[in-house]
Amino acid sequence: MKLNIALLPGDGIGPEISQQGHAVLEAVAQRFGHKFTFREALVGAAAIDAVGDPFPEETYQICKEADAVLFSAVGDPKYDLNPDARVRPEQGLLAMRKRLGLFANIRPVQTFPALLHLSPLREELVRGADFVCIRELTGGMYFGEKHEGRDEAWDTNRYTREEVERILHVAYQMARRRRGRLTVVDKANVLASSRLWRSVAQQMMGHYPDVETEFMYVDNAAMRMIQEPRYFDVMVTENTFGDILTDEGSCISGSMGLLPSASTGTGTPLFEPIHGSWPQARGKNIANPLAQILSCAMLLEHFGLIEEAEAVRRAVNDSLEAQVCTPDIQVPGVEPLGTREVGAWVAERVFAH
Ligand code: IPM
Ligand code: MN
Repeated sequence: MKLNIALLPGDGIGPEISQQGHAVLEAVAQRFGHKFTFREALVGAAAIDAVGDPFPEETYQICKEADAVLFSAVGDPKYDLNPDARVRPEQGLLAMRKRLGLFANIRPVQTFPALLHLSPLREELVRGADFVCIRELTGGMYFGEKHEGRDEAWDTNRYTREEVERILHVAYQMARRRRGRLTVVDKANVLASSRLWRSVAQQMMGHYPDVETEFMYVDNAAMRMIQEPRYFDVMVTENTFGDILTDEGSCISGSMGLLPSASTGTGTPLFEPIHGSWPQARGKNIANPLAQILSCAMLLEHFGLIEEAEAVRRAVNDSLEAQVCTPDIQVPGVEPLGTREVGAWVAERVFAH
């Protein structure tokens, strides 16, 4: 298969993990006889510094022409400390999602047998937890009408029926391929937008009789994820709730450096780690490349390259079993390795097995 992939390294540790994702995809291409071509583009603070725009037109064109985007991270503390900053790196990410029509963000929460001891939760609660959060990504408060005055400010949590329907279809199809349970997470006891979500879901559930639909308030869902993470199969929710719940979900596995995500919709699909740019670690060769590498597995799967995706996942698992780990997940007493070394090990493993 020929795939044209846009690489968007972004900020902080982004460039370092991007290189490792790139190397693993090259290894897959060689091992399985595919032809992947790569084009790199600017995004985030790196793009603001270079051309004054966090998602430049040229980057948009490169993404639009590509079959897939491999994105790393954006964010830089020099903008966080300045509430008056005119442009922020995060705007690049939001613009990219909107312009590429990426309305469905798929965030799997998995545990790794070799790392259960790292979870802040008890091992027996966490073992075997495996669910997917489907987060609506281009609506709600992130994109609704805003007002920012000196003494008053607001964000509007607006959703249309069409936006809710299309994300619910994605969620139902995912539930169908998995264990057939869908939890619709909302705050319908308080929010009008949530009541729209609920009524649309109630109308749609009859079309998916093979999926069991349940409704759960977001506060309850946040609690349940910690009390009984194995309870969930697929959950679907609006943009802001999904942002918060997926950070919570990422802790279950023990390190944020392990979880990938995919964003799909009407334009070029995008694959990224769920962690941020970790600016303090930039250039130190200590960031965990595995979430980025696992996002490459999601990319391969998206194009039906199932065996290839499996090879990447297996190589990642093997690296964990062999304790080829960056400091965030290394067991005490064993020398941790760097971003480059872990990435090279995984790429080599993909190639050789
Ligand atoms: C995420 C991030 C982004 C979001 C930020 C960087 C704008 O936290 O992908 O979850 O809030 O969506
Ligand atoms: Mn987030």
